[in-house]
Amino acid sequence: MTSPTEKILILDFGSQVTQLIARRVREANVYSEIHPFDMPAEAIEAFAPKAIILSGGPASVTDPLSPRAPEIVFKLGVPVLGICYGQQTMCEQLGGKVVPGHVREFGRADVTINVKHPLLTDIGALGGTMKVWMSHGDHVGTLPDGFQIIGTSEGAPYAIIVDDARRFYGVQFHPEVAHTPQGAQLLSNFIHLIAGCGRGWSMANYKDRAVADIRAKVGKSQVICGLSGGVDSAVAAVLIHEAIGDQLTCIFVDTGLLRAGEGEQVEKLFRQHYHIKLKVVNASEEFLRKLSGVSDPETKRKIIGATFIDVFDKAASEVGGAEFLAQGTLYPDVIESVSFSGGPSVTIKSHHNVGGLPEKLNFKLIEPLRELFKDEVRALGRELGLPDVFIERHPFPGPGLAIRIPGEITPEKLELLRAADVIYLDEIRGAGLYNDIWQAFAVLTPVRAVGVMGDERSYDYVCALRAVTSTDGMTADYYPFTHEFLGRVATRICNEVRGIGRVVYDITSKPPGTIEWE
Ligand code: XMP
Repeated sequence: MTSPTEKILILDFGSQVTQLIARRVREANVYSEIHPFDMPAEAIEAFAPKAIILSGGPASVTDPLSPRAPEIVFKLGVPVLGICYGQQTMCEQLGGKVVPGHVREFGRADVTINVKHPLLTDIGALGGTMKVWMSHGDHVGTLPDGFQIIGTSEGAPYAIIVDDARRFYGVQFHPEVAHTPQGAQLLSNFIHLIAGCGRGWSMANYKDRAVADIRAKVGKSQVICGLSGGVDSAVAAVLIHEAIGDQLTCIFVDTGLLRAGEGEQVEKLFRQHYHIKLKVVNASEEFLRKLSGVSDPETKRKIIGATFIDVFDKAASEVGGAEFLAQGTLYPDVIESVSFSGGPSVTIKSHHNVGGLPEKLNFKLIEPLRELFKDEVRALGRELGLPDVFIERHPFPGPGLAIRIPGEITPEKLELLRAADVIYLDEIRGAGLYNDIWQAFAVLTPVRAVGVMGDERSYDYVCALRAVTSTDGMTADYYPFTHEFLGRVATRICNEVRGIGRVVYDITSKPPGTIEWE
């Protein structure tokens, strides 16, 4: 196994975006680990970091009970970068002073660069500005001895501070978030130019390490893993299989709410290509029976979630003997809950991911993708040799086609939707547009409309097409297909799918719409 020799230690003070720091370090091809801010001094020494990053956090340094960095952080002689709260506690601990802010500075700000410095290489000229994301109440009021200011903003006079002799650095803003466009560059400058790390860490190393970790954790035990047909669970399964081979059994539940051909594709890939032990459970009848007569979206989700757990539980006990349950949980749950607007979040949809199984199932969990973001999971999937068509798949919701048929679900409607959806995606792939789109799918509306088919009056369903671009699913824009493309799809669907008589294209962005119709 490749063992990283250059490691960055990230001490976490509880910011919701600490994982993004780790992500930026990975992007800079350097290994990092996140540990709690109170990591014992001996453990820090044993870790032997090339540099230390102190994250942001929700506490106020002016509160005497607020967390502090272990003193050893400032004694190891390695570069230290404090971000937001991390900057403030560093200042306080080194003899400076933090003052409570009268106004919270929250959101975009401009930092003026007033000293040329390696930390700001390729970021901006002297006197220029850097767009940053601020989120703080308190700020540094008096600098510790040895520090100087190299960047200021209106709300944060100590926006970027440095002590070159001791190699201590601090930023009041968040360089790790996308809202600070040059933040990744600043972090890369810290890691490469100041800490002197090379670029030795890649997804291939990440994979080797993950494999070794899984082996160490699982030992000789058995693991089961639920496959959803999506990228995340597929990558988790193949990674675990690489680690422990036949100690892994996958379970694939056919809910009857999948797209055309989905079940077969999963079987082919996992059983035939990877030779992974796979149990396929066809539970479509059970799902459809329980959903019959139900038209409320949230009730549908709850029924599907509960039924999935029952079916999976039964399948797992039939497999028997497993101590661990593997899940393809990604980091985005945290991202989803990060509310930059600061307001309490409300439930728009209970995102009942059928891959998410409750603790009561009594397994130990392994979640090898927990630290990764979607695009990194795709990169890992490539590293594991998963075919591109699988890796590039659009996200598919746990409740499947059930939330693409507003109103009651029947087997007939599911068939109509599958037929229309296949044509739509076939045309998208044919036009080479699939990878430009975040998600594309057909919706079978409960509306029927009059038409003429040959010489006869028809009265058939209206199918809606949806395609959106997005970076994270949180906001989205409709995809600007050409009229000619849309016309072709509409003609094919009406001609080839008996029961659909009209096609419309959904041009709603998110917000105000959501991506799915339910
Ligand atoms: P919305 O419709 O909320 O969707 O804009 C955002 C993303 O989440 C997916 N989605 C779900 N995924 N269970 C899931 O696993 C759900 O209940 C669910 N609802 C929406 C949706 O497909 C999109 O990618």
